[in-house]
Amino acid sequence: MGVRYGGVLILVELAEEWSRLALDHLPVGLLVINRHRKIRIFNQTLSRFLGLKSEKVLGQPLLGILDDRGPDFNILLQTLVTGKEFQNVKPQAVTTVSCSVACLVNTYPVRNRTGITVGAMAVFSPAARLQEMENAVVKAEKLAILGLMSAGMVHEIRNPLTAVGCFLQLLQKCLTGHPKEEYIPIMLTELNRANRLISEFLQFAKPGYSRRTSCSIGETIKNVLMLVESEALSRKLEIKLDLDVDMPNIFVDGEQLKQVFINIMKNSFDALSEGGKIFVQTSWNELDGFAQVSFRDTGVGIDKDTIANMFNPFFTTKESGTGLGMFTSKKIIDNHGGRIDIQSEPGKGTTVVVLLPAVQ
Ligand SMILES: Nc1ncnc2c1ncn2[C@@H]1O[C@H](COP(=O)(O)OP(=O)(O)OP(=O)(O)O)[C@@H](O)[C@H]1O
Ligand SMILES: [Mg+2]
Repeated sequence: MGVRYGGVLILVELAEEWSRLALDHLPVGLLVINRHRKIRIFNQTLSRFLGLKSEKVLGQPLLGILDDRGPDFNILLQTLVTGKEFQNVKPQAVTTVSCSVACLVNTYPVRNRTGITVGAMAVFSPAARLQEMENAVVKAEKLAILGLMSAGMVHEIRNPLTAVGCFLQLLQKCLTGHPKEEYIPIMLTELNRANRLISEFLQFAKPGYSRRTSCSIGETIKNVLMLVESEALSRKLEIKLDLDVDMPNIFVDGEQLKQVFINIMKNSFDALSEGGKIFVQTSWNELDGFAQVSFRDTGVGIDKDTIANMFNPFFTTKESGTGLGMFTSKKIIDNHGGRIDIQSEPGKGTTVVVLLPAVQ
């Protein structure tokens, strides 16, 4: 019996130790007072915030020991007396010189099983952490708005594209035998691609959506180069290609990948002046199973601030840019389980590396 009793005691002690550890490691400061306004819980996080050892304050009356230590504890006393909760009391109200971390405070009554208030607790959340969370919410809201706007635009863009397609087909008949006749099928193919991208947009917006097939990266790059060749020529830019012939086919959405490569190449075009060069190289790392495509340009380069922001939607340094190229590209590569790395030095040029896992 004695042994059992001892065993229960050990279990209770263990449970208390675990509770104490958990409270101490909360990312928020926690202060609990009993109905006599004495401090019952003062976790390590709060001890760090206020610069006070918990041993010094535990069991002490709230007023007195913490008077000069920052937060206006009246709200906690009001909670104790009236049962009223206070939410997110702003940092100005709770910080003083001695409170090293600006906090927002929430207070709650502590009730026993019969509902009687036996104490009150204050939860201190570092304002910087809340700011981070707020920023994340704002970002998520922006993205949601972007989704809605884009869905509306899809409808509007499809109509003019259909009209252009119809007129091109009519023109095709008139231009039979004309020296520039070959341009029409190219334009129609591109128009179809745009239409397909638009049609797939909504589905693409669903995370993880893509239509994957076994695809040759080399062939995809050659296709992209055919599309951008004329622009490169007119801007007097040189594109050098170095394809790894041993690279196996990989399982990707070829159309989406094409879109990524076009976005990256167009950025290089914009960064280059006449005579500039772009080196496109593919390689295959058999050990880690990653296919790598790198695009190196000799353009203006990118500063650190721009690198930090360039994957955000609508971030652009160009007058006519939409700032969606790299955002969309990253999303596509992320969905494929890959990665985009940027290495750049202002004035020297930029290398954009796309890494894709090659599932055989
Ligand atoms: N190769 C590069 N050289 C220099 N700056 C680059 C390069 N690639 C991207 N950037 C920078 O990153 C920014 C974001 O690129 P992103 O492709 O997302 O948008 P954009 O090119 O401005 O507009 P668009 O949506 O029309 O592509 C660019 O405005 C540019 O400042
Ligand atoms: Mg771009």
